[in-house]
Amino acid sequence: MKLLWSVVIFLSMSQVVFARDSALTHSQREGRRIFQQKCAVCHVPAWPGATTLGPGLSNQTIQGNESAVRDTITNGLYDQSVLGPGFTMPGWKYTLSSEQIDHVIDYLKTLAQPPQTVASERPER
Ligand code: HEC
Repeated sequence: MKLLWSVVIFLSMSQVVFARDSALTHSQREGRRIFQQKCAVCHVPAWPGATTLGPGLSNQTIQGNESAVRDTITNGLYDQSVLGPGFTMPGWKYTLSSEQIDHVIDYLKTLAQPPQTVASERPER
């Protein structure tokens, strides 16, 4: 009986995850994939409470700020007098196309809160 309940609970939880996935547009899903591969290492804690190099990102980062955010992602932030030694936000203009940067921004707009852990950002299978 316990096993049956575990299966039922597991299935209903995975439904929630799938429902959320299919709610994303193609662009947002693509942005999430890029974010997981290129950005999460510095912007999402590896485990709850772990420190990150960069700040948590969500739709609040973007609100009213889209062109500044696009510029940061494209060109990076290298002023160590502002960030402190060793802290830089790499620019992505040689790695990502401007279309891919649009996808990442589209994805960030879907996040009401910054992701709490890398595990909560697990890629789709
Ligand atoms: C090597 C670590 C690193 C990687 C990888 C990285 N970032 Fe950053 N990012 C930083 C740091 C550090 C800052 C903080 C800059 C500051 O405080 O001014 C930052 C700042 C930012 C900001 C500005 C946040 C704000 O509140 O203004 C945005 C937006 C951002 N990153 C997006 C991205 C995206 C999108 C990617 C992936 C394409 C990415 N970052 C990859 C380290 C990184």
